[in-house]
Amino acid sequence: MKYKILDVLKKTGDYVSGEYLSEILGVTRSAVWKNINALRDEGYVIDSVTNKGYLLASSSDKIINAYEIKSNLSADIIGCNVRYFDTVGSTNDEAKKAAGNGAPSGTVIAASAQTSGKGRLGRSWVSPPAGGLYFSVIVRPDISPYDAAGMTLAAGLCTCLALRNRTGLDCKIKWPNDIIIGNKKICGILTEMSAQTDKIDYAVIGIGINVLNRSFPEEISHKASSLFIESGGTEFSKTEIICAVLNELDKHYSDLTGGFSESFIDIYKTLCATLDRNISVIRGGKEIIGKAISINSRGELVVLCNGELTTVNSGEVTVQGIY
Ligand code: BTN
Repeated sequence: MKYKILDVLKKTGDYVSGEYLSEILGVTRSAVWKNINALRDEGYVIDSVTNKGYLLASSSDKIINAYEIKSNLSADIIGCNVRYFDTVGSTNDEAKKAAGNGAPSGTVIAASAQTSGKGRLGRSWVSPPAGGLYFSVIVRPDISPYDAAGMTLAAGLCTCLALRNRTGLDCKIKWPNDIIIGNKKICGILTEMSAQTDKIDYAVIGIGINVLNRSFPEEISHKASSLFIESGGTEFSKTEIICAVLNELDKHYSDLTGGFSESFIDIYKTLCATLDRNISVIRGGKEIIGKAISINSRGELVVLCNGELTTVNSGEVTVQGIY
């Protein structure tokens, strides 16, 4: 009900009487008043003037909730369902639960804060309410687990393209899917899946973006940054950022769920900051040191090491000049 009232206030852009709202929505005027107060509690600034009614008095672009996300999306599949939590353990865990209960491909679980945010390689992802954006997207791809790397790369590329378009900042990808600006990380992606031997049942793509963070703990401040810091102080709207990413994932839904196409790999390569740099990675207890020269059709990093080509498909890659 409250969002129906909000819809009317947004569309009208002027005072709307309580009487009119109660008539068109078929509820009492006191119910209208209670819902207006519930909207105010969520942060909406609503003026009320006797004999005139209610007015949405300021833009809601600083507010993030399922209603704002849904109404700013132009996507078909991604965002078909949006659930928003104030605080959750991990949006990936919540999304896995929902997927296990049959939530459709495209379902989005987002939160203002996470108490047990998860990073890659068993690390944690510190997720305080102020700066970050935390969300997970459920997809049900038609590919074998063997081809899942392409999905991870596609998610990174879509996020990178969306952030470049929305912010104008020179975002790049550190293989496989960290998003960086300069030599600092502004976004991490953790993909988890449930699969049979030959078919992925579902995958959860968890994305954490540092949007408004003013600073970072000392131990990571040399390698972490935010859109706020990198733009010299722009307060990007979290709703606009999440919608830009979801719209981009939707636009490239077939690359995400049906296998990464050649042309998409070509775009990935142009934005991949790892290429043409010296890298090192631990594989099977051994350190591989070499130069990253390409990405193959399976999304693996091709490394020239002691005159021989080798491929890297997972692990923490240290890239000279980045981290
Ligand atoms: C990384 O280590 O770079 C990946 C970080 C992924 C963090 C996001 S925040 C939303 C989603 N929920 C989680 O628990 N993790 C991912």
